[in-house]
Amino acid sequence: MIAISDIVRPSIKQIKPYSPGKSSQEVMAELGIEEVTKLASNENPLGPSPKAIAAMQQAAAEVYVYPDPQCCDLTEALAVHWQVDPEGIVVGRGSDEIIHMLGLAFVNPGEEVIYSDPPFALYPFTTTIMDGKSVRIPHKDFVHDLSAMAAAITGKTKLIFISNPYNPTGTIVTADEVAGFMAQVPDNVIVAFDEAYIEYVDDPNYGEGLPFVREGRNAIVLRTFSKAYGLAGLRIGYGIAPPELVAALKQVREPFNVAGMAQVAALASLQDPAQVARSFRLVQEGKQYLYGEFDEMGLAYVPTQANFILVDIGIDSQECFDSLMRCGVTVRTGDIFGLPTHIRVTIGTREQNQQFISALREVLV
Ligand SMILES: Cc1ncc(COP(=O)(O)O)c(C=O)c1O
Repeated sequence: MIAISDIVRPSIKQIKPYSPGKSSQEVMAELGIEEVTKLASNENPLGPSPKAIAAMQQAAAEVYVYPDPQCCDLTEALAVHWQVDPEGIVVGRGSDEIIHMLGLAFVNPGEEVIYSDPPFALYPFTTTIMDGKSVRIPHKDFVHDLSAMAAAITGKTKLIFISNPYNPTGTIVTADEVAGFMAQVPDNVIVAFDEAYIEYVDDPNYGEGLPFVREGRNAIVLRTFSKAYGLAGLRIGYGIAPPELVAALKQVREPFNVAGMAQVAALASLQDPAQVARSFRLVQEGKQYLYGEFDEMGLAYVPTQANFILVDIGIDSQECFDSLMRCGVTVRTGDIFGLPTHIRVTIGTREQNQQFISALREVLV
């Protein structure tokens, strides 16, 4: 019998499986404990807006019908919210799916996709699936090296990803830096501004992608309901881009890609800005607390504009992970990002942050 490995597309064999970290269920079963504080995936511990929960409860009885394939109500609401043409909005099963659609619609075999190293996992994943060529540009002191990214553009470049804030470091690139970068990007290259954490930014110099979309540049802004809106489990995000670009993405979209429950919950969340404001405050307070504790412990960290902090714990990150896990706390190890003595910790509730710090103190004695 023929081996599957002989017939699978060669590029698929190169894909490194996504490493989501241990799930809370796995950790609980492994250690025989009843609760795990998960600070590994940058989720929002405040959970969804009560309005979103009410909308989902109301929609629950309707799940026997397929969802609205065009996500009309949400698209209209987003168009009003951002003052853009509804034709310039595409909704996906998380912004992950929009990243994937960008690959499907635009990346031909051999074409180049530029992004920072370490990247958000979906950029290499999508590029490799499409037989594209990843061009990884090392970060400079934990910040995107936009000059090097611009210098890496060739006749074969098709797509550039800029995660702003940058996961896993939490840094941003400023409006001036982004403008300088965009001035060097030719028209046949698409720039994807991945703004999954934008709601947590408090630096006034932050460089948004939307002005370039409004100018009609070949740019797309990626947003998600998974973080500040607390809907990660529903899988819903969206892109804002010039209508022609969105039309191309819709060509490769599955007909019923976004669940009805997700659509109504996202719509209700959008109408509850107080929830996002609460999430923002929680992160700002948590950030100050964690900075203070890290300073006291003499640990170097990267000041963040997102809901996570990259901190150098000075020991092997996997070892630190295992010890923290035994205390019931999970984080993300830095080794997967090429940072073997760092961990990335999500900013949680006050109690979760305190629990993490007391566990870390125990681990690092
Ligand atoms: C930089 C970045 N982009 C995109 C995503 C994907 O978000 P979603 O849940 O909308 O697929 C994440 C999730 O962690 C992320 O960190």
